[in-house]
Amino acid sequence: MYEINKESARFFHNYLFTQGGKWALDYLLGRGLDIKTIKHFGLGAAPNEWDALLKHLKEKGFRLSDMEQANVITKGKNNSYYDRFRNRVMFPIIEINGKVVGFSGRRHPNEDRGGKYVNTSDTPVYKKSKTLFGFNFAKNHCAKQLLVVEGNMDVVSLHKAGFENTIGTLGTAFTSEQARMIARYTNEIVLGFDSDAAGQKAVARASEVLSGSGLKVRVLSVPDGKDPDEFIKKNGPERFKAVLEGAVNEIEYKLFTAAEGLDTTTADGKTKYLNLAAEALATINSPITVDLYAGRLSEQYGITKSTLIKEVDKIRYAKRKIKQKKEIGAIIKPVYTNNEVNPLKRTNQLAVLAEETIISVIMAHPDLLPKAEHFTAENMLSSINQRIFKAVEQSIRGSSGKFDISLFGDEFSPEEMGYISSLQNSKGPFVDPKKSIDDAIAVLENERTKNTPAEAGKLADDEWAKQMEKIIQNKKRSN
Ligand code: UTP
Ligand code: MN
Repeated sequence: MYEINKESARFFHNYLFTQGGKWALDYLLGRGLDIKTIKHFGLGAAPNEWDALLKHLKEKGFRLSDMEQANVITKGKNNSYYDRFRNRVMFPIIEINGKVVGFSGRRHPNEDRGGKYVNTSDTPVYKKSKTLFGFNFAKNHCAKQLLVVEGNMDVVSLHKAGFENTIGTLGTAFTSEQARMIARYTNEIVLGFDSDAAGQKAVARASEVLSGSGLKVRVLSVPDGKDPDEFIKKNGPERFKAVLEGAVNEIEYKLFTAAEGLDTTTADGKTKYLNLAAEALATINSPITVDLYAGRLSEQYGITKSTLIKEVDKIRYAKRKIKQKKEIGAIIKPVYTNNEVNPLKRTNQLAVLAEETIISVIMAHPDLLPKAEHFTAENMLSSINQRIFKAVEQSIRGSSGKFDISLFGDEFSPEEMGYISSLQNSKGPFVDPKKSIDDAIAVLENERTKNTPAEAGKLADDEWAKQMEKIIQNKKRSN
């Protein structure tokens, strides 16, 4: 497997310097790289043919099945094989011990079909959740600080510009395995993701993954929403160094990006900003740190510190509630996966799904209960759902219009509670809850008046949606 990867890398690299690969060499040079960097990273090009690599590897004596397992060829129709990477600029993915384990292939610059990047899928020697592009080089330069960026091109051009402590995530979210690996080599991580919405999400996720690693985390914001590669090309390494030094901690990054698109000189913009800021502060564990930022924000925006801190506490409380609910859901849910609680589900899944939808919507939108007045528990076919619907009804009527699952413990067995909790947690959110109820009632009505139960067996969610659509259409026509 390693041999195949090594030979493939050699093949792509050599091809770069032939007439056929000239376009790729010109492209890489045009993007500011030099031959030294290209050789250092072993960059290459895949020919615009279906089986150039395949033939080459065959000549070298490798077996098709091994090539397929290494994911350099793919099986097509009629059991014929073809090259996985064609007409692409090739970036070999190299493991920490220096072995090539896979590839990332960038689309030809004049081509607009196919994905921008094609990457090796997981193989016996390559796990994308464990590998980071450029780490084989960066590991010797990152004792002080490691810079993580998204793009392969970013890694290569940053190394060329002297930032050899840079690695790339190969287009996937940062994993805890990667964090653990990195933590052995460095003390500080700087996240240099795009500053768009997706990038901000990636920062949030990566920070979470890294939070347990003991590493210091800072976030880079490259000006003008550029990626580091573009920035360096335009402004040079010195300016990038200054940006790197200005990397802030995650909270400051959040406080800073929250202001984007808001005019904080208006009352409305200020309120919106402070709400977002409070959410950012709610993620901080240390009360002293919260106090510090709250103090700064209150001075900046002319509000009292205690108001802001109260808001932070409120958000924290709400978050804790949601987390608890999720945890309960996760514990109880597996019980429900067999259909023992509601045996009717085996023989009339359509009716049961309709009942479940009705209950789920009412639990999420108790205000819709009076609107479904003509509908009673007796309209349901499964006895468990009848009982649940009645209990939900009582709970809402009894507690000023709210629904509270904690009151159900006495009436239902733990298994039944699992079922109820899954109804509460796994459906929705409902875009148009009123319509969901009406549609579900129509379906149920239809099932009830039919004497034969609907087809037994499983009905996938999209099939169910289709069935429902059909029934509703028929109903409309007959009206
Ligand atoms: P970018 O689109 O930012 O690519 O994706 P880039 O490396 O900056 O490329 P240029 O500058 O346009 O040439 C960032 C990274 O996300 C992964 C790749 O690893 C890429 O380098 N990616 C992107 C994929 O895996 N698949 C894709 O289709 C796109
Ligand atoms: Mn780029």
